[in-house]
Amino acid sequence: MPSHAGVEMSSPRNDYRSKVVNRSISADWSAYSATYDLLSEHNPEYQALLQDFEAFLTTIETPQVIYDIGGGTGNYTEIAARVCPDSEICFVEPDTNMNRSAQSKLAAYKNISYDNRALEDIDATGSADLVICVHALYAMPAQEQRLADLRKLLRPGGRLYLIDIGRYMNVSDWRSYLFASVKKELGLIGALRVFWQGREIAKQNKSILEAQKKGIYWTHTEAEIASLVAQNGFEIVRQQSVYRDHSDLLVCRAIS
Ligand SMILES: C[S@@+](CC[C@H](N)C(=O)[O-])C[C@H]1O[C@@H](n2cnc3c(N)ncnc32)[C@H](O)[C@@H]1O
Repeated sequence: MPSHAGVEMSSPRNDYRSKVVNRSISADWSAYSATYDLLSEHNPEYQALLQDFEAFLTTIETPQVIYDIGGGTGNYTEIAARVCPDSEICFVEPDTNMNRSAQSKLAAYKNISYDNRALEDIDATGSADLVICVHALYAMPAQEQRLADLRKLLRPGGRLYLIDIGRYMNVSDWRSYLFASVKKELGLIGALRVFWQGREIAKQNKSILEAQKKGIYWTHTEAEIASLVAQNGFEIVRQQSVYRDHSDLLVCRAIS
């Protein structure tokens, strides 16, 4: 397994925390972690992304070493661990509560190691066959350097499965869309209950929008992310606009 397994073994978490605090307007991932899966489970667009990832895994040779960067509550790692039971998976998530939540969800899988460092604090291994990074790059500092970090994790020819929110989070539009969708599934009372339980989500999404507007979180067009990815050692195999056109999905190959 990658040498940095174990949620409590590395110390840079404090550095990460101070960096987060210094970036005063940003999402509180710990507060978000408790309810993150509640609406994700009821969000057809989030489910469509998970399905795309699972389908993608069946189209490639089984990756031996997989990294999930900014893995949140572990939904992508769960798919990787299930579809690729013999692979070594390194789950990287610097937020303590997100990381705990993922460890609890993934406890049945024995092929996962947990790292609580931020991407920028991880030593490049050049050993990964697949790196997953979903809806996390925009929230990191210095995207060009982070893309270079992702490249360094991969062996030449290895794949990057990247999804990133690029456009402003239209909070009221998402709320209407999700409410209609949950109401269809659970009825009015059920939808009201889910929205009340998940009220932290609306709060965090507002913080994300605020951080985007202040330039603390990265926003980009399809062309801008493609250009930055290509400049950092990747060939783009597939690119599409997803998540109601808020995000870009790029499947890339690391070039030597
Ligand atoms: C919106 S969540 C996405 C979680 C998961 N990938 C998913 O799609 O369900 C973004 C995650 O990125 C993590 N993150 C933020 N900055 C990071 C950094 N510098 N390095 C690694 N992860 C980071 C956050 O802690 C948070 O859990």
